[in-house]
Amino acid sequence: MPSAGTPKLGFIGTGIVGSALARALVHAGYDVTAIHNRSPEKAANLAASLEGAHAVDSAQSVVDGADIVFLTVPDDAIEALCRSLNWSMSGTIESQSGSMPCTTAHAVVHASGAASIDILQAARDQGSSVGAFHPLQTFASPNQALKNLPGSAFAIEASDPSLEKQLDGMARALEGTPLVLDGDKALYHASAVLACNNLVTLLDAAAGLWDGLGLSKAEGLRALLPLVRGTIENLESVGLPNALTGPVARGDVGTVERNLAALARHDPTSADLYCELARRTIPIARAKGTLDAGGAERLLGALEAYGKTSENDREAG
Ligand SMILES: NC(=O)c1ccc[n+]([C@@H]2O[C@H](COP(=O)([O-])OP(=O)(O)OC[C@H]3O[C@@H](n4cnc5c(N)ncnc54)[C@H](OP(=O)(O)O)[C@@H]3O)[C@@H](O)[C@H]2O)c1
Repeated sequence: MPSAGTPKLGFIGTGIVGSALARALVHAGYDVTAIHNRSPEKAANLAASLEGAHAVDSAQSVVDGADIVFLTVPDDAIEALCRSLNWSMSGTIESQSGSMPCTTAHAVVHASGAASIDILQAARDQGSSVGAFHPLQTFASPNQALKNLPGSAFAIEASDPSLEKQLDGMARALEGTPLVLDGDKALYHASAVLACNNLVTLLDAAAGLWDGLGLSKAEGLRALLPLVRGTIENLESVGLPNALTGPVARGDVGTVERNLAALARHDPTSADLYCELARRTIPIARAKGTLDAGGAERLLGALEAYGKTSENDREAG
């Protein structure tokens, strides 16, 4: 639950992440007050489903009506959107000596995993706190996104300790683990892309081979998914490098050669991918202790021999 003095949250951008975060935060007890989206019907639908939330006509109205504003638009649009808004809210404070002008600072937060808070400099220049709140999770469908969020890590960055504390609290309220990174954020995001998006690419390649087996790609994917789940469970229970199994881990050079020959016949680009990944798998198998130096040499030899043959084939073709 958020602490007393709960901030009013606003969202600009109600795509998959903006909608899921807004819903999850309301569910966790936060107040989402103002919502805006380029296509207004999406903001209206989201606001209608959240108690206390209102769809507003302009992005500026979100800024004017919220304490913490989430810019949940595509990464490449965040900086320009931030620059287009007025972040210094002018007003007056009544005191015993009369009224005096003041500005109320906002906090503005983006959800990009690759960009730092520097892209929010325009708001910072106007006195706002700036932050980033990146759920290390994949948002492909709204309901699945909500199911996936608990247990996720959230990379947090903030220009000041007070906003960092608020974002830390939000991550915990969403049953997640806050992470403060020290280093190049694009490297963190590249790690996420390799683990998540490229897993999809890998399964697209793997399932695509099933049309050479008399079954569709969809049937292939269905058959492969329990294997993927088993692999993930092994990664959870025994970790790296012990989760590694298969021909490279065993030093089965003949099987690797048979795999490559079949791939070369059906899908040469997947054969290249297999070779590159097998090269990266050899040190994991060595670290696990199931592949000796001689086995590693023989595997590398088979991969190089395949590389030379495919290069010659390409030159000849
Ligand atoms: N998807 C993920 O798995 C994931 C995971 C973690 C973090 N993120 C981050 O979350 C942020 C939002 O990503 P998303 O996946 O939610 O994107 P999305 O589903 O494509 O939604 C983008 C939203 O921004 C609006 N928009 C697009 N271009 C705009 C522009 N130039 N100016 C103003 N609004 C614009 C869109 O409005 P319309 O409805 O009018 O098109 C839409 O509501 C990004 O920073 C992304 O890196 C994504």
